[in-house]
Amino acid sequence: MPIRRSWPCAALALVVALTLPVPADAGTSGRVAELVRQMTVDEKLSLLHGGTNPHGIGESGYLPGVPRLGVPPVLLADGAQGIRVNAPSTALPAPVALASSFDPALAAQYGQVIGRDGRGAGIDVLLGPTVGTIRVPFGGRNFESFSEDPLVSARTVAADVRGIQSQGLIATVKHYAENNQETQRDGIDVKVGEQELHEIELPGFQAAVDAGAGAVMCSYNKLNGTQACQNSELLQGILREQLRFDGWVMSDWHATHATDSITHGLDQEMPDDKYLGDSLKKAVRDGTIPMSAVDTSVTRILTVFDRFGLLNGTRPAPVKNPAADERVATKVAEDGAVLLRNTENTLPLKGSNSIAVIGPTGQTPKISGGGSAKGNPPHAIAPVDAIRARAGGTVTYTPGGDLFGQPIPPSAFDPPLPVAADGTVSLPLYYGYNGKIIAPSDGDYRISVSTGGNQIAELFVDGRNAFAGTAGLGDAEIPIHLTKGPHDFAVAPILGPDPGTVKLGWVTPEESASLIPAAVAAAKQADTAVVFAYDDESEGLDRGSTSLIGYQNDLISAVAKANPNTVVVLNTGSAVAMPWLDSVRSVLDMWYPGQNGAEATAALLFGDASPGGHLTQTFPASDSQTPVAGDPSRFPGVNGQVDYAEGIQVGYRWYDANHATPLFPFGFGITYTSFSYRDLVARRDGRGGLDVSVTVRNTGSRAGDAVPQVYLGPSPNVSEPQAVRALAGYDKITLRPGESRRVHIQVGADQLRHWNTTTNGWALGTGARTVYLGSSSADLPLHTTVDVR
Ligand code: BGC
Repeated sequence: MPIRRSWPCAALALVVALTLPVPADAGTSGRVAELVRQMTVDEKLSLLHGGTNPHGIGESGYLPGVPRLGVPPVLLADGAQGIRVNAPSTALPAPVALASSFDPALAAQYGQVIGRDGRGAGIDVLLGPTVGTIRVPFGGRNFESFSEDPLVSARTVAADVRGIQSQGLIATVKHYAENNQETQRDGIDVKVGEQELHEIELPGFQAAVDAGAGAVMCSYNKLNGTQACQNSELLQGILREQLRFDGWVMSDWHATHATDSITHGLDQEMPDDKYLGDSLKKAVRDGTIPMSAVDTSVTRILTVFDRFGLLNGTRPAPVKNPAADERVATKVAEDGAVLLRNTENTLPLKGSNSIAVIGPTGQTPKISGGGSAKGNPPHAIAPVDAIRARAGGTVTYTPGGDLFGQPIPPSAFDPPLPVAADGTVSLPLYYGYNGKIIAPSDGDYRISVSTGGNQIAELFVDGRNAFAGTAGLGDAEIPIHLTKGPHDFAVAPILGPDPGTVKLGWVTPEESASLIPAAVAAAKQADTAVVFAYDDESEGLDRGSTSLIGYQNDLISAVAKANPNTVVVLNTGSAVAMPWLDSVRSVLDMWYPGQNGAEATAALLFGDASPGGHLTQTFPASDSQTPVAGDPSRFPGVNGQVDYAEGIQVGYRWYDANHATPLFPFGFGITYTSFSYRDLVARRDGRGGLDVSVTVRNTGSRAGDAVPQVYLGPSPNVSEPQAVRALAGYDKITLRPGESRRVHIQVGADQLRHWNTTTNGWALGTGARTVYLGSSSADLPLHTTVDVR
């Protein structure tokens, strides 16, 4: 049986030079109407589904256009954190790092980099950003999302979309909607209530629509029983009528399931034509689907193309600016980094101290998470080299762990696989190898695959899969706990030469354990140990636990025992458990920090830059503390269905409602200085919202960034569930030592509303509302009351 699968994200950069006839200028709607009138049925249908780029696989999606009428071919590429084509392009820090900066102005710059790079690579439509809610810490795509909180998601995505589109690149906001987990992502049925949908998940999409996003990508999952890409309530009732979206809806890759989806609000099938190609043509011919439905979708698509100048060649010329891109990448990595712990002023590091850098990602930079958001960076240096360049004292490096591992011996496969001594093996395209891998003992493994040349391969181990290869995919690793004995194993080249060559490696528990003693010895010799720890968050796979993968907890504990002056740098995409927290001095969460992450990490460690990021998601004390713990019907789902029974109590709202103290609360982040807050005043602002003012003072001895956060208590007059406190506004300011500033934080009228489930509409939460102010959801020293009528 071949394991042929259509890989959704194939890429090979190809800049297509477009010389196109310009239609007579008839004004936007006139021009589009005239084009639609002139198009044949086949030409119309060619816009409603993906096609094959005759110049090769250059990107994730392709439309041939209608060149005879001046509609150019259109290239679509992924790029939630940097454009994903074969040619190198700026790899920005993960979107979760961007959101952690709590800085919409920086999000606009981030979007501009993606827009500039995308247009520079000849791309017309970006498949991003990802704005869905971080519902559980295990979500495989948390790193490419923004937050568990709708306001942070909304403000970040709005600025990101504006930045992207300012460069002439069309943004596609995804994945609409409630695609918050990867387990059974192809069709899991999400049972969600109206209130959660409107108050928690949709504000990010609404903000993107308000910012002018040209396209929306409907998601793989079902929503309350109906596939998202044929869900009239979602696509028409909510998206078009309520959110006032006037762009086009494309399906996620292979998320279209029926031809009549076009009558339920879907405009375009991606990446091929299974339902909206010949089947649609036949349905139109048979009269089961009206031609007007086709014309409506074509008009929507062409209207966005026209808005972006695709139809008359008025698009701004793409101008690459790698130096400016690098500055933004570095700034986001620095400003999004969250300092979680810093005792005894261990950080910033003192210049002359000796440092033992430990951990495989101290050498091989962890740039991004996996899947379609993974970019193709032009370069990236090793964190240990960046530390060496900055340090005054001796710097040693000891791996303490392995990423790719050792070649897997032929004897570990049943039936045997003729793997060469270096781990390479030649396999037929698509068919590859299907068999068993025999684990020699119980423990945490890391199974890896890499390819050479223009080849993509897919690896499966016990139902988990990962892609390796070109287009920035690099090596693929599956971290997995295996019991001694046989486990399902399959690997196949799925694109490129036939047969294809893949290289297989594994890190066994024995190898991991054997690497710890050298790290301990190095730590003993140094003034400070800096341990880099990582996880492998990726599309296609949820994390099984918040625990760091492999033997990293053992490594950190052993190092901290050998040298109490231990600093942990996290390169992780979401919340992780820290059983060793009390034994280390400092923890700096760098997320996946992009191509300039090493330089940013060194700048923060040595105090050339100040950490000022705050968590956009709660870090639970343990896996058993999360809102979904102990109830598989809530996550990852039972019988193909997942129940969002927590309603609006997502993230910190749930912890507050349940009086649960997490490891680190939402909004948390410390700095190298300290701040005080006083004189809180909250007033109605005449626009239906609030003007909240407070005096913030830098009480420490270094400059630093403060993020004053406003939370709003419930209305006494609302019968629907409400949050104990909900984030309603925030600002980010930089203060010099001793400096004070009066800060005005605008709370929008929408923050005072809730979703009324009787009237199915927004309603003002009237009465005395408490306004809280502080530096995190759990540290709110000031409060006052406003009367809302
Ligand atoms: C992902 C999308 C992505 C698409 C194209 C899908 O599998 O879910 O986010 O844009 O592939 O690569």
